[in-house]
Amino acid sequence: MNSNAEYRRVRTAVFPVAGLGTRFLPATKDIPKEMMPLIDRPLIHHGVDEAVASGCTRVVFVTGQGKESICRYFEPSFELSALLRERGKGELADVVDSIYKLAEFHYAYQAKPLGLGHAVLCAEEFCRDEYFGLLLPDDVMTAEPTALAQLEAVREKYEGSVLCLEEVSPEDVSRYGIVDAEEIEPGVYRIKGLVEKPKPEEAPSRLAIMGRYLLSPKIFKHLKNLKRGAGGEYQLTDAIASLLEEEPVYATVYKGQRLDCGIKEGWIQATVVKALEDEKLRDIVLAAVAEYEASANGEKTK
Ligand code: UTP
Repeated sequence: MNSNAEYRRVRTAVFPVAGLGTRFLPATKDIPKEMMPLIDRPLIHHGVDEAVASGCTRVVFVTGQGKESICRYFEPSFELSALLRERGKGELADVVDSIYKLAEFHYAYQAKPLGLGHAVLCAEEFCRDEYFGLLLPDDVMTAEPTALAQLEAVREKYEGSVLCLEEVSPEDVSRYGIVDAEEIEPGVYRIKGLVEKPKPEEAPSRLAIMGRYLLSPKIFKHLKNLKRGAGGEYQLTDAIASLLEEEPVYATVYKGQRLDCGIKEGWIQATVVKALEDEKLRDIVLAAVAEYEASANGEKTK
């Protein structure tokens, strides 16, 4: 990579975390969805790890009412760390101390959860002059290189905003933003249009937008002109459709795994997958399943 590209590398990652998390109630009544743990750290920590691994040095959280614990999590905890050291748990203290050092943290506030488009607009003051990454923390992505880095590679080549795609089944298209796109090289597309949560018969394709974006700062002008869209919310997808009239937008089908932790079923699946991938946890999961099956079979033969 030449030094100019290095200089232009995306350094700011925006995380909207002001949503209500209604699909995960009652757990999310008092705990932000983004603070639900996946193995040993909250979902939002997984997202920040990805942003840092992608080269980002600034993180902007768009927070809202009841989301204070997210801000606290990324602040230093000098007392806890000192106590742990006093008790000979220096390694754990190092883990605690490493969190606030991950990046430079900034906070924007969304007074009401009026939709993803509105949340992104709230981060404008931190992203006015340069491309920025947008990461939805309930999509936990494991990919090498990271999903954001894969988008960055497309931006470097074609110059424009880049969306992250996954092919979904026809019955799932109405859950996502769906693109109408022309493939310009294997797995890379130039966007012709997009629609939020279409009916299956009206969907232009089965290519769905997932929770990683690389956006040009021109998006803010289009976010300001947004009208309420699907579900009565200000939809980012509508702003991107409007941005298309001004400059090209690209997309790539990411290579990697996505764990949808915004719903109970996905969160459970993610927990099992992550545990099976962990050398120390794998045997615990397998033993629990074997024990459950043995007792279920025992019940049947009684
Ligand atoms: P979701 O689409 O998952 O919405 O938001 P949600 O409100 O959190 O959850 P449900 O649909 O009620 O279960 C994706 C990301 O965007 C944030 C959320 O916090 C989540 O991280 N978001 C969403 C905002 O910050 N503001 C909004 O107005 C909407």
